[in-house]
Amino acid sequence: MSVRSKYTDALNFYGKETPQSLAEKFGSPLYVYNEAVLRERCKDLVGLCKTKGLHINYSAKANANPHLLKIIREEGCLVDAMSPGELYLDLKVGYKPQEILYVCNNVSKEEMKNALSKGVLVSVDSLMQVEQLCQLNQGGKIMVRFNPGIGAGHSTKVVTGGKETKFGVDPEKLPQLLEILEKYNVTLAGINHHIGSLFMEGEQYIEAAKILLDLALKLPHFDQLEIIDFGGGFGIPYHKYENQARFDLEKFSTMLNETLSAWAKEHNYSGKFYLEPGRYIAAECGAILGTVYNVKTNGTKTFVGTDLGFNTLARPMLYDSFHDVEIYRKNFSGESKEMEQTIVGNICESGDIIAKNRGLPVLEEGDIIAMLDAGAYGFSMSSNYTQRLRPAEVLIQKDGTAKCIRRRDTFEDIFATVTEF
Ligand code: LLP
Repeated sequence: MSVRSKYTDALNFYGKETPQSLAEKFGSPLYVYNEAVLRERCKDLVGLCKTKGLHINYSAKANANPHLLKIIREEGCLVDAMSPGELYLDLKVGYKPQEILYVCNNVSKEEMKNALSKGVLVSVDSLMQVEQLCQLNQGGKIMVRFNPGIGAGHSTKVVTGGKETKFGVDPEKLPQLLEILEKYNVTLAGINHHIGSLFMEGEQYIEAAKILLDLALKLPHFDQLEIIDFGGGFGIPYHKYENQARFDLEKFSTMLNETLSAWAKEHNYSGKFYLEPGRYIAAECGAILGTVYNVKTNGTKTFVGTDLGFNTLARPMLYDSFHDVEIYRKNFSGESKEMEQTIVGNICESGDIIAKNRGLPVLEEGDIIAMLDAGAYGFSMSSNYTQRLRPAEVLIQKDGTAKCIRRRDTFEDIFATVTEF
């Protein structure tokens, strides 16, 4: 029975299962993904690629579970990687080197060598790293990330454009950059940027894209450019129960395709354009289930204690992010009172809050709760803090059945790297 679940009910999110049956079979806490939703989000974005050469380059940092990567690949998305681990997984699920972009930041030469040895195009974002990469790849191709001077995002922690951030080469340094490329006879095959994560309007993205396009025209070997990558950042409505509007993809698609098609035609560009979304693709297909073990009041505040510590879903603790809550109860009488409650986890820090001061039906011991929109930057940012086991991940397949796509950690996993003592 459910106390609050109209959002996932409407999608038949749990297929032939229920949150209770899933928690019983696979344990709590548990990440649950819905295949149909994941495919739909991929289709939304792939469908907006009307301009010739425009591709969706999924940003795997949002969720790199290989089972999901496989689906995302089937739906026609390319992929990025920003670490040897992500690159390993991208290749493992069958992405070809030319379908992968290595968009990294402050990396060692060993890491660059590793990506180059796999035949993957590498983007670096400072003159020093450009020089290091050129030394390793003389006569080859590289990609450079610029800082467009414009940033956007839900928190200063994820705004990645503008002078206050560590990212990208300042376009004013173009002359020095070109000198380095010439010295090593390296071709600038791609340029990219990423202004930040989570915006609900596309105007700033287009404005920044135009800056990158202008910059492309300043390159003496413009004709050698194969990829122009505008980054990701497309937001999703986290406030589902307040009917928050979706990112207007149709409007964005019109603006984007008009801009890119006209530009490509005017300048006779026959290379590719990339959009690099992570969250838009992965967030809404995922929820994390947890269990209520404790309800208490401290002064005037009611705390609902669960197993959803910030080791399982870090976003609320890190960015004060909002995730909607759904509630399931065995033997629900059908009646519930609303009250302000704060849902917390089982970690020894007061910041371990997963939903703050929420007006919700009064929660009870044994309730299963779901934090919605946890598919992106959920499991991928989870940890073993306080030696807790990271949750299992389950996929609700198109036929409604559940498939375990990652088992829960074991103590042996946690201690596997500890040397003899
Ligand atoms: N491309 C680059 C180079 C990036 O750094 C990122 C995200 C993306 C693409 C994808 O951005 P998205 O479409 O997912 O917004 N942990 C934060 C988000 C960090 C994003 C980091 N970079 C959160 O949970 O909100």
